[in-house]
Amino acid sequence: MLTKIDINKFHTLIEINSSLNSSYKDVHSVLSRIMESATRLCDAHASSLLLMDKEKNELYFEVALGEKGGDVKKYTVKFGEGIAGWVAQNNKSIIVNDVANDKRHLRNIGEEINFTCKTILAVPMRIKDECIGVLELINKKDDGLFTQDDIEWLEIFANQAALAIINARSMEESLREIKQLQEQLTHNQYHTVIAKSPCFLEKLEIIDKVAKTDSSVLLLGESGVGKELFAEQIHLRSTRKNAPFIRVNCAALPEGLLESELFGHVKGAFTNAISNRQGRFEMANGGTIFLDEIGDLPLSLQAKILRVIQEKKYEKVGSDATVTVNVRIVAATNKDLEQQVQKGEFRHDLFYRLNVFPIYIPPLRQRPEDIIELAHFFLKNFMKETKKQKEAMAEGFSQSAIEAMLSYSWPGNVRELQNCIERACVIGKNKLIGIEDLFLKTGTQDKDDGMRDLKAALNAFKVNFIRKVLEENNWNQTETAKALAIQRTYLSRLIKDLQIDAIEKA
Ligand SMILES: Nc1ncnc2c1ncn2[C@@H]1O[C@H](COP(=O)(O)OP(=O)(O)OP(=O)(O)O)[C@@H](O)[C@H]1O
Ligand SMILES: [Mg+2]
Repeated sequence: MLTKIDINKFHTLIEINSSLNSSYKDVHSVLSRIMESATRLCDAHASSLLLMDKEKNELYFEVALGEKGGDVKKYTVKFGEGIAGWVAQNNKSIIVNDVANDKRHLRNIGEEINFTCKTILAVPMRIKDECIGVLELINKKDDGLFTQDDIEWLEIFANQAALAIINARSMEESLREIKQLQEQLTHNQYHTVIAKSPCFLEKLEIIDKVAKTDSSVLLLGESGVGKELFAEQIHLRSTRKNAPFIRVNCAALPEGLLESELFGHVKGAFTNAISNRQGRFEMANGGTIFLDEIGDLPLSLQAKILRVIQEKKYEKVGSDATVTVNVRIVAATNKDLEQQVQKGEFRHDLFYRLNVFPIYIPPLRQRPEDIIELAHFFLKNFMKETKKQKEAMAEGFSQSAIEAMLSYSWPGNVRELQNCIERACVIGKNKLIGIEDLFLKTGTQDKDDGMRDLKAALNAFKVNFIRKVLEENNWNQTETAKALAIQRTYLSRLIKDLQIDAIEKA
């Protein structure tokens, strides 16, 4: 035990304690401050704080103070080598007051940076008895020798440093946990599946079978058809259903960030030893990973994904250690992957691996039964959420609205239908949502905006003109056709295409 408490040292300890409690994040400055105090109070010329890198089995300099502090930082010391390595291996404090004659001392670093170590005091830094780093004081001032008293003080500082690291680690863990919980709240609600059309039900049966295997699945289909919904179903119908379902949009991040998002990374320098970043594959372990927009996956990452599929192995960014995972891969794209393979934008081996089980989800326009079922489903949902007065709430669709939805091409598929119903719920004033509430575009086939405007103007003119003549003829189509000097069949097609009768009825 320390016999007499030096008031100066005591004050320094209190100061360090308060900084430990106030800066959990900037742990490097806290550690630097601890080393500065230790160096000053124990009358040393220089000092270092080394941290253990477990993966590489070596120590690196987190803090190095003194005239050559900057130079020494580029070195690392193998576990068991040199005086610091010896302390780490033996988990024991040591005083070496005759460094020149100590066999453990690594001479090369001192020679290279032109610095002579005469005396060293080194103590282990421990978390739950495990040595996670080493504190070293070098060259006692005035050619003095380090004493037992110095050891005891440095051990106190080592405990402080360990506390700083424990704080930083739990802070990081809590932040990560918060992030994961937030994600679960916002993303991990699974969607309800509405299915009525035979072709869609058939696809769900296939999903049911494939879900029970561990095969990779490739979901294909236009934008908004429900690829993500299918990915959820594959997970929910599999034995992995209680494990995580992790979504990654391969198009949302630039290459470098995407790699560490997927595979995690070993943080540089200090944080390395504290905690490594978990990648999405690691989070999905035991469950399913959904790689959305796989067609946008950069070539360099395609090789890595291929290896995960084939060997279940990968390395984190910045690390040589191989990680093994048990993850089922479901990928989706609305791009033509085969064409991308031909253009050299997508690896053919990865394509074949993913394409073992391709599932094509048909567009909404080919599933009329689903259009109506989905429209009612979305209507019910939005009405539940809306703040409208009960009497102002819609309960269904007018016949003309239904017909319009059935004849519309839905280029944006279910997502477009969902948006369309939401809008109609907001603006609709009647019990039945009418065609005018839906704002379905006619002439959506025209890519060119100028053409679409012209066509829309012409259509508007035709609608008004034909309605006027129809009204004049009491909606008798034969008479109206005669008045317009067109065939009766052509008139009825125009009425249908332009939804003229629908407007009247709505
Ligand atoms: N059969 C369905 N039943 C209920 N909701 C559906 C159905 N299909 C799609 N949806 C809903 O429509 C929206 C679009 O679906 P999803 O995100 O799965 O499509 P996607 O194919 O992944 O689209 P994108 O290619 O644009 O990413 C989602 O809100 C989804 O919940
Ligand atoms: Mg999607």
